[in-house]
Amino acid sequence: MKTRARKGIFITFEGTEGAGKSTLIRNVAAQLESSGRLKERRIRLTREPGGSPIAERIRNVILEEPVDPMAELFLYEAARAEHVVRTIRPALDAGDIVLCDRFTDSALAYQAHARGLPWKKVKLLNGIATAGISPELTVLLDIDPAVGLARAQDRNRFEEEGVEFQKRVRQGFLKARSESPSRWMTIRVGSKPPEELSASVTREILKRFGKRFDRG
Ligand SMILES: Nc1ncnc2c1ncn2[C@@H]1O[C@H](COP(=O)(O)OP(=O)(O)OP(=O)(O)O)[C@@H](O)[C@H]1O
Ligand SMILES: [Mg+2]
Repeated sequence: MKTRARKGIFITFEGTEGAGKSTLIRNVAAQLESSGRLKERRIRLTREPGGSPIAERIRNVILEEPVDPMAELFLYEAARAEHVVRTIRPALDAGDIVLCDRFTDSALAYQAHARGLPWKKVKLLNGIATAGISPELTVLLDIDPAVGLARAQDRNRFEEEGVEFQKRVRQGFLKARSESPSRWMTIRVGSKPPEELSASVTREILKRFGKRFDRG
């Protein structure tokens, strides 16, 4: 008898610089692990740009110095294609829960909305690079861009572009969210401690996907 491979669950985390994405992902992974609800499922943490050997090398190129916006878009999409083929798809095929720090919505927010490349073209390239793989849930960490910039530790050239750029990025995320609201969960980052934010995301994941964990 043929057994149908169980499908993995793909969740992405988006937000402006210093919003707390990396912290949130770590905490959500730990809380899911300790929830006792995962059964056989494994959690796989990954990030963009990067997430596979070649894509990590492209990441270094992108983050090193300014690149022409269209060339920059193609570098991101090249890294994304590698990341999907080498890391994300195999993990989903194995039934894993993939938690990804940034994905296609960052291209819409940064390359399209903030840099001014045509939204539809970025969407088209996102679709080509991902070959149809898209997140089932996207968590938006919505922070005052100035507060995020002040918190951001790993300084890169996007942070150096300042708060006006980050404000455009935030608007870009809101536009992406408006195109498919049910895929998104928005966490307003205020004064709540990180563990509280992650607990609400963990609850939402268990609410949306818990039944699939139970089926193995
Ligand atoms: N909810 C929170 N409340 C207060 N501080 C936080 C919260 N979440 C994260 N931080 C702190 O803010 C800083 C930035 O967090 P983090 O590195 O997770 O953000 P990020 O969105 O991944 O940033 P980047 O865009 O630079 O990768 C860190 O010092 C982190 O400890
Ligand atoms: Mg980070």
